[in-house]
Amino acid sequence: MMDCTDRHDRFFLRLMSKNVMLYSEMVATKSAIHGDRKRILSFSPEEKPLALQVGGSDKKELSEVAKIAEDMGYDEININLGCPSKKVQKNKFGACLMKEPDLVSECINEMINSCKLPVTAKTRIGYDDIEDFEYLNSFINKMKIAGCKTFILHARKAILKGLSPKQNLNIPKLNYAMVYKLKKENPDLEIIINGGISKIEEIKNHLKLCDGVMIGRSIYQNPYSLIEIEKEIFNTKKTPTREEVAEKLLEYLEKEVKLGTKVNHIMRHTVGLYHGQIGSKTWKRYLSDNMMARDSDFKKAKYIMNIVQNNEKAIQTNS
Ligand SMILES: Cc1cc2nc3c(=O)[nH]c(=O)nc-3n(C[C@H](O)[C@H](O)[C@H](O)COP(=O)(O)O)c2cc1C
Repeated sequence: MMDCTDRHDRFFLRLMSKNVMLYSEMVATKSAIHGDRKRILSFSPEEKPLALQVGGSDKKELSEVAKIAEDMGYDEININLGCPSKKVQKNKFGACLMKEPDLVSECINEMINSCKLPVTAKTRIGYDDIEDFEYLNSFINKMKIAGCKTFILHARKAILKGLSPKQNLNIPKLNYAMVYKLKKENPDLEIIINGGISKIEEIKNHLKLCDGVMIGRSIYQNPYSLIEIEKEIFNTKKTPTREEVAEKLLEYLEKEVKLGTKVNHIMRHTVGLYHGQIGSKTWKRYLSDNMMARDSDFKKAKYIMNIVQNNEKAIQTNS
């Protein structure tokens, strides 16, 4: 997720879940090839398993990025076929590529030929006036012939003109049934469902009809809900408390600050750590008052972590 799942956020999320697959923000092919690769693509080994999501429609560039991803140690390369933003459309990537199945297939084929990583696609169920199972099925099958076996389906169509990216995440209606049907008709494909999912019961129900569930906003807003996912979905017996998460993050923060990372670049992702808990407002207020400034220093981070740790102890004692 753009502006959300950068390497710091992924490190933070990994402290709570060892088992989920994590995805990068979308990176445009040109940035990956010509940009500051270390800044844009590097990650800590702790973040793995990790997929790089790429945006593009030039097959040479896409295959080059697939190779870069492999060389850098990513575990998967995923092509974005779902982003409806104007800028993305102008550059001819994202959801507008649903109009060009042949071009997409060629791109996927080139990517598959240039690396050994699994090449996966994230797409919508339709676009503009098209929300038609036959169209979606044929689009997916073209990509399958090109060699793609795993598809993440955001279960709502994209409106390419007239809606903002934010509206495009809420206004088009969710249609899970179309994703279920896709899996039913293509049992050999790995179909991962996405869109509006947050509760464990919902995840369990989707898993009866699909191979996986992708969650975006709800995890960003309430990252500690990963703990419930670990327990309920992956059967993990030992999970960290918020206090333990905070402690580990502090170690990471200390290391990163020495390397020149700004405190707020890490701490901004932790706003939801206390979501739904006593003291969550204090945590959020403290972060926004003290941690979001570019010049926030490490001492402040340590101070707030201590408050949080005491807060956690207080909650544990009271419950
Ligand atoms: C802030 C934000 C940034 C996003 N960036 C990306 C992105 O880079 N690539 C992508 O495939 N989807 C992106 N999405 C869409 C999400 O991955 C997801 O498909 C969508 O939010 C629906 O799932 P959810 O209801 O679980 O959030 C973004 C969504 C948000 C809210």
